[in-house]
Amino acid sequence: MPGTACVCFSRSNFYPDCLNLAMEKPIERSPDRDDKELDSAIVGQAPPMAQIKRHILRLGKCDLTVLITGESGTGKELVARAIHKYSPRAQKPLIKVNSAALPTDLFESELFGFEKGAFTGAFKKKPGKFELAHSGTILLDEIGEIHFPMQAKLLQVLEDNEFSPLGSTTNTRIDARVLATTNANLGKMLSQGRFRLDLYYRLSVVSIHIPPLRERRDDIDLLCHHFLRKYAARYGREYKPLSDQVRKQFYEYWWPGNVRELENVIQTITALGNEEIFYEKTRNHAPSGVPRNGRGPMMTTGAVTEIAAKLLTKYSLKDLRKKAARKAERDAIADVLYYTDWNRKKAAALLKISYRTLLYKIKECAIEESKHNYPERVVEPGSPGCLLPSR
Ligand SMILES: Nc1ncnc2c1ncn2[C@@H]1O[C@H](COP(=O)(O)OP(=O)(O)OP(=O)(O)O)[C@@H](O)[C@H]1O
Ligand SMILES: [Mg+2]
Repeated sequence: MPGTACVCFSRSNFYPDCLNLAMEKPIERSPDRDDKELDSAIVGQAPPMAQIKRHILRLGKCDLTVLITGESGTGKELVARAIHKYSPRAQKPLIKVNSAALPTDLFESELFGFEKGAFTGAFKKKPGKFELAHSGTILLDEIGEIHFPMQAKLLQVLEDNEFSPLGSTTNTRIDARVLATTNANLGKMLSQGRFRLDLYYRLSVVSIHIPPLRERRDDIDLLCHHFLRKYAARYGREYKPLSDQVRKQFYEYWWPGNVRELENVIQTITALGNEEIFYEKTRNHAPSGVPRNGRGPMMTTGAVTEIAAKLLTKYSLKDLRKKAARKAERDAIADVLYYTDWNRKKAAALLKISYRTLLYKIKECAIEESKHNYPERVVEPGSPGCLLPSR
């Protein structure tokens, strides 16, 4: 459901003390110091964010493994850091493992460390991230990027709570709380055999999904206020609210880069003292130039006219018609493939073309399966121009 935070418990290992979290009941709390602190660190009052914040405070106390999912820039690391902060381990380190940046051959030495002489170049003993996180928290960032053979090694450590550094003959016990984040569609990776089911269950004892910013637009104003204050203080400027026109357009824009993108825009606006930067940015972002019920990239009329004039000096109207038809065809195929989870048979049936024709079109239009769990363009089923019925 759009705009909802989803907190789930894996059927395998859950923890009875935290069971009531799964019932999604609002918890009665008096606004105490923790709530206030958390509100200033994680800005947002939209129902999914309020719910996530309640869960952070409760999960902090439970020591459960948590998998945090969401598009890039939605605040997964922020949530992970908050869970650590409100846990009894807060005084101990939170060690982040950037899985995406770890080549397979470095994975073991980074995570488990090595003894002096373990391999050529191992001049002295080096502790791994698990050892550094002992009695604290280990954050496995971008867990979807861990190569398949390494997933088995990680699972073993998580199951046994011990590991052996490279070149060592003894095992080291660990006591680290595990948090993981991903913007990949792990469900899809599981069905494609690219992610181990056992590791998925081990990591997703509790999972928190952070919805994209476009599904919690009511938080945009609050976030703007927060970032305007932050960057005004940083650059020694006076706090200046955004104009009503920009606020309206912020509300309509689809924010593919989520809160990170919003923060960057506000930072630049504050630094340059000029709101125009937002128009420049959205102009460059827009793949088609057509606003889609406030969901797609937003453009000013001026920008559309400018582009139309440029196009007409390059192509005839007939060429443009052909190009537009090709683009519409490509978009329709890409949307249907996305919503059928790249099930080509289902997609061909929906598009009323043969399976072979679909394969040919995918190749001809160079449509690629995105590794992220959202398409390049977002078209809501049931909306005008979308072939799919409402969900
Ligand atoms: N609700 C929020 N309140 C305040 N700042 C936020 C919020 N959500 C995200 N941010 C800010 O947006 C930026 C991106 O957040 P973060 O790094 O946690 O995102 P992410 O989901 O881990 O992104 P990625 O998948 O690209 O790693 C950070 O600067 C973070 O402080
Ligand atoms: Mg992150």
